[in-house]
Amino acid sequence: MTAKELSVEEKLRLICGQDSWHTVDFDGKIPGVCMSDGPVGLRKVAVNEKGEWYDQPSVAYPALHVLANSWSRECAREMGEALADDCKEKNVDILLAPGVNVKRNPLNGRNFEYLSEDPLLAGTLAYEYIDGLQSKGVGACLKHYYVNNLEYNRLDQSSEVDERTLREIYLKSFELACEAKPISAMCAYNRINGVFASENEKGFRILREEFGFDGAVISDWGAVHDRTACAKAGLDLEMPYSEGNYNKLVADYKAGKIADEEVDACADRVLKLAERCEEMRRTRKVERTVEERFAVARKIAEEGIVLLKNDGILPLEKGQSIAVSGDFAAPGDSAKIAGGGSALVQWRGERFDLAKILGEKLGGEVRYARAFWERGLICDARKAMTDAAECDVNVICAGTGAGIETEGRDREDMRLPKWEEESIRRLAEINPNTVVVLFAGSAVDVSAWEDCVAGIVLAGFCGERGGEAVTEILTGEVNPSGKLSETFPCCFEDVPASSTDNDPCVARYEEGIDVGYRYYDTYGFEVAYPFGFGLSYSEFAYSGLKVKTSGDKAEVSFSVKNVAGPAGKEVSQLYIRPIASYVHRPEKELKGFVKQEIAPGKTAKVKFALTLKDFAYYSTAVDGWRTDDGLYEILVGASSRDIWLQALVKIEGGKISFVKETD
Ligand code: GLC
Repeated sequence: MTAKELSVEEKLRLICGQDSWHTVDFDGKIPGVCMSDGPVGLRKVAVNEKGEWYDQPSVAYPALHVLANSWSRECAREMGEALADDCKEKNVDILLAPGVNVKRNPLNGRNFEYLSEDPLLAGTLAYEYIDGLQSKGVGACLKHYYVNNLEYNRLDQSSEVDERTLREIYLKSFELACEAKPISAMCAYNRINGVFASENEKGFRILREEFGFDGAVISDWGAVHDRTACAKAGLDLEMPYSEGNYNKLVADYKAGKIADEEVDACADRVLKLAERCEEMRRTRKVERTVEERFAVARKIAEEGIVLLKNDGILPLEKGQSIAVSGDFAAPGDSAKIAGGGSALVQWRGERFDLAKILGEKLGGEVRYARAFWERGLICDARKAMTDAAECDVNVICAGTGAGIETEGRDREDMRLPKWEEESIRRLAEINPNTVVVLFAGSAVDVSAWEDCVAGIVLAGFCGERGGEAVTEILTGEVNPSGKLSETFPCCFEDVPASSTDNDPCVARYEEGIDVGYRYYDTYGFEVAYPFGFGLSYSEFAYSGLKVKTSGDKAEVSFSVKNVAGPAGKEVSQLYIRPIASYVHRPEKELKGFVKQEIAPGKTAKVKFALTLKDFAYYSTAVDGWRTDDGLYEILVGASSRDIWLQALVKIEGGKISFVKETD
């Protein structure tokens, strides 16, 4: 059906949504669409017998920042596939996910919902997630389009950003994700260079004409200020329905302020969305059982948990006595190890009890005390101190949770609450064999306690099967393989955005393309833990770099050997570094990554294919991508700051040639 077959009233009504979660179906004349949040699990609202709205429980997967820390395309795809089953069970046609906004400011309240400070990592994993979801019959909604990197005054603040930075960083993750053909995208609340995302004709044109997006653009909930201006710009569907906005649209239409063609363009895209959903409904069926979905949630946590520090205390040994403390060890509610807002999922399964699981795995004595000195109150702190003194190892479960990391508000600072910092310091003083398990959704300033503990495990918002995954890593049952998808800076003052994000009207992206490691590595900042960093119980060695070139292509190959420890997965990373460029270029840029399991003593061969595009920058002089002639270094390593192999290549006249290996 096309818009031409609908009356004007029907078309105008169609593009304004039905209610909070559905499009109109004109009593079955056209298919309706049901959409629900969110990126880390289905949040389908319902009304109980008392008429109260509530979120129905569903599998709570690890948050997207943990998925990103897995660097696993396979995990991203499986997460999409499993979420599709959760949606199909509840007749949800579109999952309002994933969020792919690049992480610019560690204080952003929604960083837990996003993937990385690097657009390639973010866009690549989003591609897999979307394709996994849609291949199983549920639509994705790529969000929040675009330059949505803070919650501070998000409904009105403008992100002030130059064109090159937009293209290379903030649009790039959407561009890569669009290759998965999401059937919808959600515009953000904020302005970009003064113009609301919901009215940003240039943004919609780029999305459609350059990124090949052929779905419907949906507003963020309440992001429409002027429905007519949005429709003329190319925003197809307002959500939720707003009677005031609808009436204004009708009046504007009658006043000739919006043409039939403009209304039809939006209506046609909404009709196409509805037909695509109806098509998927016909053939889709639930495939994974709930238990199998829980297994996916656990696998993602196992692969996304990052071992940040280990002076030898991990893995724990059978029979050791363990003192567990901190109320993250036994999260009483879903919001304890999760971010707040529309992404919060009511756990479907049992709450985990980390001390209990540890006791079962190690067979020794395990004690538990809640312990944090919450706001000056002593919560069995004395017991925690006694346990720490009398046990072999002290495991402190600290973090943030939805009370600190949430949609609608940014964090006050990068540190843990002071009573948690105090707990860690005091208990580590009593027993230096202390491991901190960190349940936080974004970078944390660990400077107040990092040096007094023997181990740090970044569990993140690891989902409802995260407790099992954490204990598997603590006991060595699983060899940690996660790596940071965002830098942990030493302190917030080192973050460029720390000086430009406190104006309620304008966030000035003065650092340009130098986001995350692109900034810290270019300007020589020490960081607590670098982008791409993560420890393993194995040791990997890189060797044998070869660069074979042919025309405008290069094949980079090398070997990675598991030289010590058990079988383990290693994330190998490839960066490029232009030499003597005529435009500012970051010190390095991620251009490839691969994760693979390597048996003890075995060697794996890794190959990356590069083309001229991988060396390009966006030139506003030509409004397009350019690869200048010149010398470029290829860097291969285990993290952005652990480069093992380097080679020099030359680009001349559109051809790549190998120059030499460098060290
Ligand atoms: C929220 C969020 C968006 C969510 C939507 C529906 O404000 O910004 O991510 O999908 O509204 O809850």
